[in-house]
Amino acid sequence: MSNASIKELAKKYVLNTYGDRDLALVRGEGCYIYDADGNRYLDFLGGLGVNCLGHGHPRIVEAICRQASTLLHCSNLYYIEPQVRTARILVDNTFADKAFFCNSGAEANEGVIKLIRKYAKEKVDPRRTDIIVFENSFHGRTLATVTATGQPKYHKGFEPLVQGFKHVPFNDLAAVEKAIDDRTAGILVEAVQGEGGINVAQEGFLPGLRKLADQHSLLLALDEVHTGCGRTGSFMGYQTFGVEPDAISLAKSLGGGVPIGAFLTKDSIGEVLGPGTHAATFGGNPFVTAVSEAVLTTILEEDLPGNARRMGQYFAEEMLKLRGRFDFIKGVRGKGLILGLELGVDSDAIAHAAIRQGLLTYCIAKRVLRFHPPLIIQRCHVDEAVAILARVLGQAA
Ligand SMILES: Cc1ncc(COP(=O)(O)O)c(C=O)c1O
Repeated sequence: MSNASIKELAKKYVLNTYGDRDLALVRGEGCYIYDADGNRYLDFLGGLGVNCLGHGHPRIVEAICRQASTLLHCSNLYYIEPQVRTARILVDNTFADKAFFCNSGAEANEGVIKLIRKYAKEKVDPRRTDIIVFENSFHGRTLATVTATGQPKYHKGFEPLVQGFKHVPFNDLAAVEKAIDDRTAGILVEAVQGEGGINVAQEGFLPGLRKLADQHSLLLALDEVHTGCGRTGSFMGYQTFGVEPDAISLAKSLGGGVPIGAFLTKDSIGEVLGPGTHAATFGGNPFVTAVSEAVLTTILEEDLPGNARRMGQYFAEEMLKLRGRFDFIKGVRGKGLILGLELGVDSDAIAHAAIRQGLLTYCIAKRVLRFHPPLIIQRCHVDEAVAILARVLGQAA
C-alpha cells in the first residue's frame, strides 16, 4: 500500500484523535525509517523517545523471537521469570527496592498517584490526598494523569476532572512552598518537561523539592517516562540531576518499542500496595519483560547513557553553531538526547519541511523543534541531521 492509500483507510476506519498526517511508516533499520512510498528518513523522533535502540536491533529481535516461541502471556496469577529478571536490573541500578509493571506511561503515573495517596493515608495523615503538579507538565491521557497534566487544552471537554491536584509554576520553589498545606500528600514532577516544550529543571529546583518533601513528610515522585532509561545521560534522569526521589514512573525507552510501563519505589513506601491493591492483566507479561530485559542490558552494557551525553552535547553544539547563520534561532534546551531547538518563529512549517527533506522531527510549544533520537546515534547521524536543518532553515529565512 502507498502513503495515500493507508491515509485513506485510516480516515475511514480509525478515530481521528491524531489528526491529519502525511506519512505511513512501514519499515525501520537502525536510525532510519521508511515510509510506504519507499522514502527514507533519519529518525530523530525515535517513536517519541521509545525506539532507544533504533529499529530492528538484533538483541530486541532475538528476545522477541525467543520469547514468542517460549511463552507470550500467562497473567500475574503466576510468577514470571523475565519479569523478575527485569525488575532485578531496575532495582540493582537505581535507588529502588521494588518494581511494578504496567503497559504505558499514563498507567505508570496512575500507579504513582495511587501510591502517593495510599502512603499518605496509611503512614502520614489520612486527610492528605493532594498532589502538587506543574504548569506545562505532561503525565498522560487517563482521567487522573490528564488532570495532573498542567496544560488546560488537554482538560477541555473532560470535566469534571479528578480531585486533588494543585498546579504550580515549574522551577518556582516559592510557589511550591506556598501551595503545600495540611492536605498535601506528594509532588509529581518531570526533570525535563518534554511535551511542555523541553523545559529543564533549573539547578537547585529538584534538590529544593526534595528538601520541601522531607520537611513536610511528602513523597517526591519523578515522572521518568521520557527521561528514564538512558536518555538524559544517566541510567535514570534523577541521577543526572543528583536527587533521590521516592518513586519514579517509566515507559517509552523501557521497552524499546513494545508497550510496557513501570514504577519503582522503596520497600518502606511500596509496602502500602499489598496484595489486591493494584494490578494489570498484561502488566509485566513474559513477552514485554523479556524485551525490556534485552533493552536494559544493552543500555547498560554498551553505556548508552554515556553515548546520549556525548551525542547530546555534540548535537546541541552543532545546532548552536547555526545561530551564526540564522539569527531567529533562540537557543537549544534539554539534557542528553532530549533536545529542543528554540526558534523565534513559528516552527510547524519548518518541522514539515525537515520531514520532506528526510529528517523526522516535531514542533512543540509552537516555536520548538523537538528531538529524541535513538540512544545509539553516532556523529554521522548528528552531522546529517544538522545539514538537513541548515538547508531547511536557509529556505525558511
Ligand atoms: C513525561 C511523560 N509522562 C507520561 C506520558 C504518557 O505516556 P503514555 O503515552 O505511554 O501513556 C508521556 C508521553 O508522552 C510523557 O512524555
